[in-house]
Amino acid sequence: MAEIEEKIIGALKKASGVEDATLEIPENEDFGDYSSNVALRAPATNHGSPRESAGRIIEKLEADEALLEIVEKVETAGPGFINFWLKKDVLVDTLRQIDRKKMDFGKSEKGKGKTVIVDYSSPNIAKPFGIGHLRSTIIGQALYNLYKALGYEVVGDNHLGDWGTQFGKLVCMIEIENPKDLSIGTLEKLYVEFHKLAEADLSLEDKARECFKKLEGGDPKIKKIWQACVDVSMKEFARVYELLGVKIDFAFGESYYESEMRQMVDNPKIRKHLTKGEEGASVIDLTEFGIKTPLMFLKKDGTTTYAARDLATIRFRVRKWDPKIIIYEVGMEQTLHFRQIFAAARILGLVESKTDLVHTAHGLYLAPDGKKFSTRKGKTIKLEEVLNEAIKRAEKLGNEKSVAKDVGIGAIKYFDLMHSVGSDVIFDWEKMMNLEGNSGPYLQYTVARTNSVLAKTSIKSPTLHGKYGDLNGEEISILRSLIKFPEVIELAAKSYSPNLLCNYLYNLASKYNSFYGKHKIIGGENEDFRLLLTFGVGQVLKNGLTILGIQTPERM
Ligand code: ARG
Repeated sequence: MAEIEEKIIGALKKASGVEDATLEIPENEDFGDYSSNVALRAPATNHGSPRESAGRIIEKLEADEALLEIVEKVETAGPGFINFWLKKDVLVDTLRQIDRKKMDFGKSEKGKGKTVIVDYSSPNIAKPFGIGHLRSTIIGQALYNLYKALGYEVVGDNHLGDWGTQFGKLVCMIEIENPKDLSIGTLEKLYVEFHKLAEADLSLEDKARECFKKLEGGDPKIKKIWQACVDVSMKEFARVYELLGVKIDFAFGESYYESEMRQMVDNPKIRKHLTKGEEGASVIDLTEFGIKTPLMFLKKDGTTTYAARDLATIRFRVRKWDPKIIIYEVGMEQTLHFRQIFAAARILGLVESKTDLVHTAHGLYLAPDGKKFSTRKGKTIKLEEVLNEAIKRAEKLGNEKSVAKDVGIGAIKYFDLMHSVGSDVIFDWEKMMNLEGNSGPYLQYTVARTNSVLAKTSIKSPTLHGKYGDLNGEEISILRSLIKFPEVIELAAKSYSPNLLCNYLYNLASKYNSFYGKHKIIGGENEDFRLLLTFGVGQVLKNGLTILGIQTPERM
């Protein structure tokens, strides 16, 4: 929480006697800069209605000298809310702060000494990087950046799907067909073919299982084929990450945890929780957590499962990083899986209660008609094509090549992030590229507009000397937004909701654009102030978009 809010909360605690008094930012600016519900939950010693106790609290607040230095007005509203309006000087001072801190405005040290792990992107080897992993990559990166801005130590880990029975199938097919080249296309085809053949030949599934067992057993020939598949895929993925401008700290991948899993199976403290489930699999009972489906740790042939690998991963991460939070940026369809592994991790004692395990559970991308993207066997939409299409469309908006990449990719990212994480995203090129509405290009365009206003003056970084005249409603309203930026970053991080930052940035850009349309900046009254305001808006938009992983071209 920023200094200003801390001061107000301090005063509120004193005046109300409520130790855990909190402040909200009202959605409607008519209700002030901050609002508190302390009076609605004041201690039982208080008599009368919440409105009456709000009145008493306000009397005390109005006698609080320190508070009056920053607050202009305190009022009660509704059933007993207390609303605060900041002083104009405090609002204007934000501009000086932005000027001083530049790219650091909005950042804090709140998370110092604490580590957050973000498990994100995580595509599957031997499959194309589909649109299905796009959300995880984009949201995961935004969460990573948000926590970093709060001063946390952040570790990004790409939990590649590079292990499991499906590799048995693939290797088995490669052995049967012995293809000349190993491209992603070939691998994909082989995988589809496996399922076709397996319908006629029931022994094929057993063969595949046998193959995976050999892979886990360390058979060198099979391991070599597997490694070739991994190498091909990694090259392919690298192109997508390059296009997206995403770089993930680590990519251990599921295969990394082989020995960790062996150690777990051999560890009596863990083994005592494994029971024989249906058909001879080794399972962990989760009923104490209210989960009926037991977690399958080992299959009946002793090979490991996706869940076992996730548990081994938790064990490894806790040992290596001692994280405060592990965020899994993974789709909603894996909700049961994560409930299971979170519960199992507690039961097995892999992670202490001080560590939060979070599954963000994002929604799907849907086709423009609102239906699921066609997932007919072997037919997924290729992400690379979508990204290149976005860049092409950005060129059509009149941007040159280098700018078009930033605008096209920015459009894709912003469109994803502006939706709340849990909701589905209906793919819509028009909305995505719309220069007039809530879109990446619109925000980038607004930044470019502030740049071009400032470029017209000789002042590179305008400063505010001494006095500024009366401020109009538009100006005050922009200032009231700017001061909230640090708070919004914190809120967006804590609630795993980058869309809150998107809303904020869009709102700020709209305010600036309507101010721009109404008032003369250069050569107008209050020129110094207006230039500094323009600079402040540009800087905050830039800082926010950077956190969202979106570039801000100088010109558009
Ligand atoms: N590779 C998995 C998939 O595509 C996602 C992995 C998510 N992360 C995890 N720790 N399970 O479904």
